[in-house]
Amino acid sequence: MGITLEKQYLKGYVAKKDFKQIFPKIKKAHDALEKKAGLGSEFTGWADLPSRTEDNFLNSLVALGEEVRSYSDCLISIGIGGSYLGIRATLKFLRNAEKIPVEYAGHNMSTDGLYELLESVKNKRIAVAVISKSGTTTEPAIAFRIIRKMMEEKYKGDELKKRIICITDGKKGALRQIADKGGLRSFVIPDDVGGRFSVLTPVGLVPLAIAGCDVRALVEGAREGQKEYSVPDIEKNIAYQYAAVRYLLYKQRKYIEVLASFYDNMFYLAEWWKQLYGESEAKEGKGIFPSSLNMSTDLHSMGQLMQDGVRNVFETFVNIEHTNHSLSIPREEEDLDQFNIVAGKDLDYVNKQALNATAAAHYEGGVPNSSILLERADSFHLGKLFYFFERAVAVSGYLLGVNPFNQPGVEAYKKKMFALLGKK
Ligand code: PA5
Repeated sequence: MGITLEKQYLKGYVAKKDFKQIFPKIKKAHDALEKKAGLGSEFTGWADLPSRTEDNFLNSLVALGEEVRSYSDCLISIGIGGSYLGIRATLKFLRNAEKIPVEYAGHNMSTDGLYELLESVKNKRIAVAVISKSGTTTEPAIAFRIIRKMMEEKYKGDELKKRIICITDGKKGALRQIADKGGLRSFVIPDDVGGRFSVLTPVGLVPLAIAGCDVRALVEGAREGQKEYSVPDIEKNIAYQYAAVRYLLYKQRKYIEVLASFYDNMFYLAEWWKQLYGESEAKEGKGIFPSSLNMSTDLHSMGQLMQDGVRNVFETFVNIEHTNHSLSIPREEEDLDQFNIVAGKDLDYVNKQALNATAAAHYEGGVPNSSILLERADSFHLGKLFYFFERAVAVSGYLLGVNPFNQPGVEAYKKKMFALLGKK
């Protein structure tokens, strides 16, 4: 079951001989990753995580989900960055996978946003998943304070304890202490997996299982991804091909990558991807700026820029081969809009022609592009895609000569903010 990488619109930018030339560098990056000998190797636990994740653990999460849903009308998922985006990306991608609604908190500090959320759930039976690897991040810590107070007013004793689930470090951080002192259920985020690589750890799996998503299929897809994208031969490994394409285009001063999709369930997947790629590569003055567009909506606002703006951009489409449903376009007697030409065809047929036309037009306008094609938008393919992107960015970071697994730059604003808040 598959994911493929289509490269026809790279012609003139990336040639077969370029792939051959870059192969030794890719092999070096691959070896560094496999032998845990590269920069940041202490955070490469994600690389064999799918095969290390036990079925018993996944079964226990499914049971946990059934239990929590039996006494909850909604789940509030508290977290930011890597402790937020993968969950939202998955639920949006899978459409309607939630068996109870999921609300998100702790990913900003909007008073009105959180107030409205609290108002909307106050008469419901609530479960909370609070996720923070460090256990000290400002946004989720403060949101959790406010939500915990509401929960403590609403529920007491065991009723309270069964409704708050903490996902955090095994030993350190404020959230670990709160969980242990309060006798709350908790799950451990492995030390060797960084935030943006953590969607397939309890960070993503626990809230997703509570929401009712098929975590077994998600991990099964990632396991297949691990097998396919850990192969050293670039000819056989599309994750490495994607990493190579990005690097070769970067060397041609294509400094912006637009992840574009004609499928509206990809919105948060692109947000997840932006964190993964931005935080992993952009350091020491290097790296591609990851951006995203939602087609065909954005063709009517950003299409001009893509076709005709500064030629420092390349594009990666994420496409879906088979939609879950079909919608036939009706024939009309008068044919005023002259769309009887597609009467009887499925809406996705037109969408795919728009996609094909856009890829061709942008290429002719000087934007090289490739397409990642998923057979279906289901849990299995998403798990595989998560792994594809993780594997590719690790190699891509090594090609650039940076440590893909740290994020020293995100501390600067925090230091200034803590000084302003008077926090030690
Ligand atoms: O990539 C990262 O490490 C960060 O963006 C984190 O995911 C984000 O800051 C959340 O951190 P934490 O889980 O420690 O609250």
